[in-house]
Amino acid sequence: MSAAEVKKVTTNTLQIMKAAGQKISMLTAYDFSFARLFDTAGIDVLLVGDSASNVMAGHETTVPITLEQMIYHAQCVVRGIDRCLVVVDLPFGTYQSNPDVALASAIRVMKETGGHSIKLEGGEEVVDSIRRIVKAGIPVMGHLGLTPQSIYKFGTYAVRAKEEDEAEKLKKDALLLQQAGCFAIVLEKIPAALAKAVSESLEIPTIGIGAGKYCDGQVLVMHDMLGINNDFNPRFLRKYANLHDQITGAVQQYVKDVQSNDFPNEQEQY
Ligand code: KIV
Repeated sequence: MSAAEVKKVTTNTLQIMKAAGQKISMLTAYDFSFARLFDTAGIDVLLVGDSASNVMAGHETTVPITLEQMIYHAQCVVRGIDRCLVVVDLPFGTYQSNPDVALASAIRVMKETGGHSIKLEGGEEVVDSIRRIVKAGIPVMGHLGLTPQSIYKFGTYAVRAKEEDEAEKLKKDALLLQQAGCFAIVLEKIPAALAKAVSESLEIPTIGIGAGKYCDGQVLVMHDMLGINNDFNPRFLRKYANLHDQITGAVQQYVKDVQSNDFPNEQEQY
């Protein structure tokens, strides 16, 4: 099938999938090669997550990554896809101050990357910015529950909204985000029962990470689900590969082969 014939995933597709009870698959991607693999493998949505700050740049949190760096990763991902919907995270500090700043950041992402939508974290506090961005014609995905850009406020990556007051605020925030025009909401690390109640109360899809099976879709960080990091093992994570061991083994073998002069052999030279 040629690129022109591929049926592209849009925000509308996700709405239709929710209505039909069809689950949505989403993964992070940060570069051309993995984006191409994931797109070909049939993923619906690729998130150029600000988790790039952790897994690509080696920072401890998502706070340091810049808009320029997110734009670079998003440009690489967009070049690799034919079918997926691409969502790009607005990084910390590029939307929290006011709606004008938020809109300017979102416009840069859309104009400079070719991505299809942006994601930002928070509830009531960012609703004015969401309205402003949506009004400019840019699709917005929300993100509630554990919001890693606020790690210094929370102080921990533990499960959020276990207490009644925080759960109530999350439910209200989810409705506010829907009213403001979000096309979907990520629910991160909250109890499954709460995620179920939120998902049932909304017309737009929820995409869970550590939020249980009742969300309308699921997202994982690619390095986690492919087992590239072997020291990150939260309960919610299912590892679909053990690339840490496979890559380590392959590189160890290559080192041995070079040292022993086994590589390259007669057939591997000109
Ligand atoms: O940046 C990211 O990878 C995310 C996911 C955890 C949802 O926001």
